[in-house]
Amino acid sequence: MITLGGQILQSEPEGYATIRPGVVEIAEGRIVGVEFGQVSNRVDHGGPDALICPGFIDTHLHLPQFDSIGAAGMRLLPWLKDVIFPAEQRWNDLDFAKSMIDRVARQCLGVGTTGVCAYATVNHEATIAALTAFRDIGFRGVIGQVMMDRDAPPPLLRPRGQLIDEVSRTLDQFPPDRPMAAAVTPRFALSCSEALLEDAGRLAASYDAIVQTHLAETVAECDAVGKRFGGRDYVNVYACAALLTPRSILGHGIHLDSQSQDRLARCGSIIAHCPTANSFLGSGTMNRHSHLSHGIPLTLGSDIGAGFERSMVRVGRAMIEAAMRISLAAGHGVDDQVRIPSAAEAWHQITAGNAAALRWNDVGRIAVDQRADLLVIRPDIAWLDSRQPLATLMFAWDDRWIETTILEGRVRFCSA
Ligand code: GUN
Ligand code: FE
Repeated sequence: MITLGGQILQSEPEGYATIRPGVVEIAEGRIVGVEFGQVSNRVDHGGPDALICPGFIDTHLHLPQFDSIGAAGMRLLPWLKDVIFPAEQRWNDLDFAKSMIDRVARQCLGVGTTGVCAYATVNHEATIAALTAFRDIGFRGVIGQVMMDRDAPPPLLRPRGQLIDEVSRTLDQFPPDRPMAAAVTPRFALSCSEALLEDAGRLAASYDAIVQTHLAETVAECDAVGKRFGGRDYVNVYACAALLTPRSILGHGIHLDSQSQDRLARCGSIIAHCPTANSFLGSGTMNRHSHLSHGIPLTLGSDIGAGFERSMVRVGRAMIEAAMRISLAAGHGVDDQVRIPSAAEAWHQITAGNAAALRWNDVGRIAVDQRADLLVIRPDIAWLDSRQPLATLMFAWDDRWIETTILEGRVRFCSA
């Protein structure tokens, strides 16, 4: 049994987080007890001024892009061509891919990310290596072999039949009901033939697998999709291929009209909001309030390497800032709290909120029977004296405060 003591992050059903002092007990990879009250100094980890927090869930990131962060001054499509596709080709060297996977996993643990919805590359063996490494460390989540059969350099393209065969085998080896599973990941409409999109939709349905793709990130991309697919709008292209399921995670979703929003809401598909990536590539600002009003489930993701922040706490902060920009641009005041999420909501989003949207019932909250994917955070500021401790923590955030990252009850990162 391991005990963690401190201020325990709790998520309220209304969608925000609170803190309560107490002790968390862990055995055999699960939380077996949560006792609220005085924090004794005799716990294994933490103490009265520590925060005990569920591990963060990053619902959109690209593992082969961690070395590409910061390629500034480019828009999406030239950036993909000149920066990202060359970086992803490096994963065709399996030794390079494996060493990078180890580095990336360590970085995730160091910033408190314990759950991922990640893209690998088109390379099958490298994708299997990533799934194997992340599963063995104890991460929760999905990783997908990227599917592309057009408009990328030849080393990143595969015939459609080969992609479907390889991704099927990945799903057999890492089935969707496992804690670390394969996902069906057609990169986006522009990298896929219509036949590949349709095959991907069928494959996802036959395994009930998570689908990952990108949607409406930039205006230029939307225009190109319209041209390629006979004037159809972007959401319709995915709908026709049966790619819009309640288990579909659509990165970005910035440039969508009300009809498309309604359609996404009816399908129950999830938009993964990636505010740091959107400002870095100058793609636009997603209107969170509008999507929520339409009933679209939202998650939050770092989108490394378009996004430049590995830390989901900083991405949570960027979500608040993006909502503030939308509110100001619409002529609302900054204290219009309806449109601007609070830090307490952002803490909820990066833990229980992301888990709930993905229907991952075993993570994201600190409660008995949950997987023990937990963080011990020791801020070196007097955060408990603040009028809004969770806002102080989020805006003053320092990754060095993460003392311990625990996956399935095992300490996998320790700063000491
Ligand atoms: N659209 C298609 N591929 C990508 C990618 O790798 N990153 C981002 N941000 N958008 C994409
Ligand atoms: Fe992305």
